[in-house]
Amino acid sequence: MAPSSYFLLIALLALASWHAVAFDPSPLQDFCVADNSSRVLVNGFVCKDSKDVKAEDFFLAAKLDMPRDTKINKVGSNVTLINVMRIPGLNTFGISLARVDYAPLGLNPPHTHPRATEMLTVVEGTLYAGFITSNPDNKFLSKLLNKGDVFVFPKGLVHFQFNPNPYKPAVAISGISSQNPGIITIANVVFGSKPTISDDVLAKAFQVDKKTVDWIQAQF
Ligand SMILES: *[C@@H]1O[C@H](CO)[C@@H](O)[C@H](O)[C@H]1NC(C)=O
Ligand SMILES: *[C@@H]1O[C@H](CO)[C@@H](O)[C@H](O)[C@H]1NC(C)=O
Repeated sequence: MAPSSYFLLIALLALASWHAVAFDPSPLQDFCVADNSSRVLVNGFVCKDSKDVKAEDFFLAAKLDMPRDTKINKVGSNVTLINVMRIPGLNTFGISLARVDYAPLGLNPPHTHPRATEMLTVVEGTLYAGFITSNPDNKFLSKLLNKGDVFVFPKGLVHFQFNPNPYKPAVAISGISSQNPGIITIANVVFGSKPTISDDVLAKAFQVDKKTVDWIQAQF
């Protein structure tokens, strides 16, 4: 290939990747503190007047150093998500933070964040974490994580974390690439919707009989 063709190829590749823009709109000003009293609905929150912005708009005494209660739900985990609903100053920043507590054998069940990539580090205990790629491969990629290890979950893919230790709790901290990442917990949306999805639909989708579907739906 002639050198000029190489330059053309590189220029085209650069242009192609430049077109791959992120999801959360990036700020066009220093900040856009969410005005949660506004009745105006936009894709995100409208900004409050920058003259009225205070340090508190960017702050939350979230006590992320404190353990959360993991015993009051069936899965044995507790997610404390610090998103734009908790810190109005996060609006347009495209980032959130979460602390996840896991009871011994606790599970953060399979779920997806429709708008965000996630980067997780284990700060206490061990975790078995994984995600599944989209169709048609549905490849399952998983890893046992020790304290200090980091694992990343691609945007939109189904993922989970499980504490395999029957005696000790675990704790993780996650950075999430949206001020409002959204959470879709697979079991809850499929079997726990209100009203429930017809068992004709779910029996066929899961290739089981309707009684099995009704039994699973009854758990939610
Ligand atoms: C709006 O945010 C303020 C603090 O930023 C909070 O005190 C208030 O409860 C919020 N109101 C609503 C309706 O969410
Ligand atoms: C998480 O823990 C807090 C306090 O530790 C508790 O108030 C809350 O109900 C728990 N949430 C779940 C989903 O268990």
